[in-house]
Amino acid sequence: MPETRPQAVGFLGGTGPLGRGLALRLAVSGVDVLLGSRDQSRGREIAADLSGQLPPGSGEATGASNREVLERCALVLITIPYQAMGATLEELRPLAPGRILVSTAVPMEFLGGVPHPVTTGFGSATEQVAQLCPDSLVVGAFHTVAAGQLLKLDHTLDEDVLLTAHDSAAKERVSDLVERIPGLRPVDAGSLDSARFCEQLTPLLLRLNRLHRAHTGIRITGL
Ligand SMILES: NC(=O)c1ccc[n+]([C@@H]2O[C@H](COP(=O)([O-])OP(=O)(O)OC[C@H]3O[C@@H](n4cnc5c(N)ncnc54)[C@H](OP(=O)(O)O)[C@@H]3O)[C@@H](O)[C@H]2O)c1
Repeated sequence: MPETRPQAVGFLGGTGPLGRGLALRLAVSGVDVLLGSRDQSRGREIAADLSGQLPPGSGEATGASNREVLERCALVLITIPYQAMGATLEELRPLAPGRILVSTAVPMEFLGGVPHPVTTGFGSATEQVAQLCPDSLVVGAFHTVAAGQLLKLDHTLDEDVLLTAHDSAAKERVSDLVERIPGLRPVDAGSLDSARFCEQLTPLLLRLNRLHRAHTGIRITGL
């Protein structure tokens, strides 16, 4: 029997490196992706550019406004800078009930060029999404995956993706999505209050990248 075509995955702020990188890899795996932007025409432009890189048999990449993404997609990745995430969700949250929202934001700032975690007041950016959108199913994921590596289709990925959520069905759905991308392994990291640890790994990875002139990711051993 032919495999059922997976549901389209949406991105808020899908025009940045992480949104484009994840959309590219998911589209290659056969998933349709909807790249949202504050400016619908920018979303379309980036989606057209992405489409040009897709091999035959890929999912479709389409551009849209962020609003349209929430209207059309049951699973939406939030790929907006942390500093803009709260205001964006305040505006769009009436459209979010029932959606699976995947929080990727890393609350981080550069002080003297060195990455430092930022205190959110919510425990983590992921928990902030859950507080702002209480009727959505919030999952934390992809915090430690570098956009630059996703965007290079000839780069072989080899890393884990830590997943946090209260809702196990939503976590499972995102886990299935991670598994579609060769070289990424989903790892259940527990409930949302673990998200702070996942998010804080990223400033460390960026420091390691600089120290070792490397592109680091994470692998959990013993599982
Ligand atoms: N880059 C990475 O390697 C990486 C890795 C792990 C996690 N993350 C997290 O993933 C998220 C996206 O990262 P990124 O590097 O792709 O970010 P980015 O390029 O800085 O921003 C992504 C998109 O967000 C939208 N945006 C920017 N400022 C906004 C504002 N004030 N209000 C509403 N939308 C705004 C823009 O889309 P439009 O202008 O089209 O609206 C932009 O293209 C961040 O939270 C980051 O912490 C990134």
